[in-house]
Amino acid sequence: MDPKARKTALRGIVYGLYVVGTTGEQGPNAFAANWLTQVSFEPPRVALAAKKGSRAEGEIAASGVFSVNFLPTGAKEFAQTFFGPVHEEEGKLGGYPFRLGVTGCPIFEDAVSYIECRVVERLDVGDHVLYVGEVVDAGVHREGVETLTLRETGFYYGG
Ligand SMILES: Cc1cc2nc3c(=O)[nH]c(=O)nc-3n(C[C@H](O)[C@H](O)[C@H](O)COP(=O)(O)O)c2cc1C
Repeated sequence: MDPKARKTALRGIVYGLYVVGTTGEQGPNAFAANWLTQVSFEPPRVALAAKKGSRAEGEIAASGVFSVNFLPTGAKEFAQTFFGPVHEEEGKLGGYPFRLGVTGCPIFEDAVSYIECRVVERLDVGDHVLYVGEVVDAGVHREGVETLTLRETGFYYGG
C-alpha cells in the first residue's frame, strides 16, 4: 500500500469537530474529537474513538459516560482549547462556562446543542478505543445554527 495515498484517501472522510465531556476523580474534563458518528436510530447510539491511554479515555472507561458538545460554525478557538489539558476554574473549563449534565459530564453554555451518553460497548480498535454510547439526554441551546466542521478549521486528525 502507498502510505501517501492511504493518508490522502482517509483524509477524504468528512468530519465534524466536537468537544467531548468526561468526568473523573480530577473533576470534569473535556477534549476535542472528530472521530464520532451516529450508529443507530433505535436505540439512539453514537460511536466515539478515544485515544488509548489519554486522561479522557480512562475517565470514559471508569465512569461509563460522556457528553458531546456541538460547537457553532466559526468556533475554531473554542475547539483548539481542548486539544490540550484544561483546568476547571470558577465554573469554567478551559475558560468556557459549563454546567454538569445528568451524567455528570460538562455541558458548555456556548455549544449549539449537546448529547449525553452511557457507554454500552467498548472495543479496542488499535491506538484508540471505540465507545458506543446510548444517548440518554440531549438539548439545544440555539436553533438553526450550523455546527463546526473539521474542514473549516484546517485541522486534520486522520490518515
Ligand atoms: C483536529 C484534532 C482532532 C482530534 N480528534 C480526536 C478524536 O477523535 N479522539 C481522540 O481521542 N482525540 C482526538 N484528538 C486529540 C485530543 O483532542 C487530545 O489532544 C487528546 O485526547 C489528549 O491526549 P493526551 O492525554 O495523550 O494528551 C484530536 C486532536 C486534534 C488536533
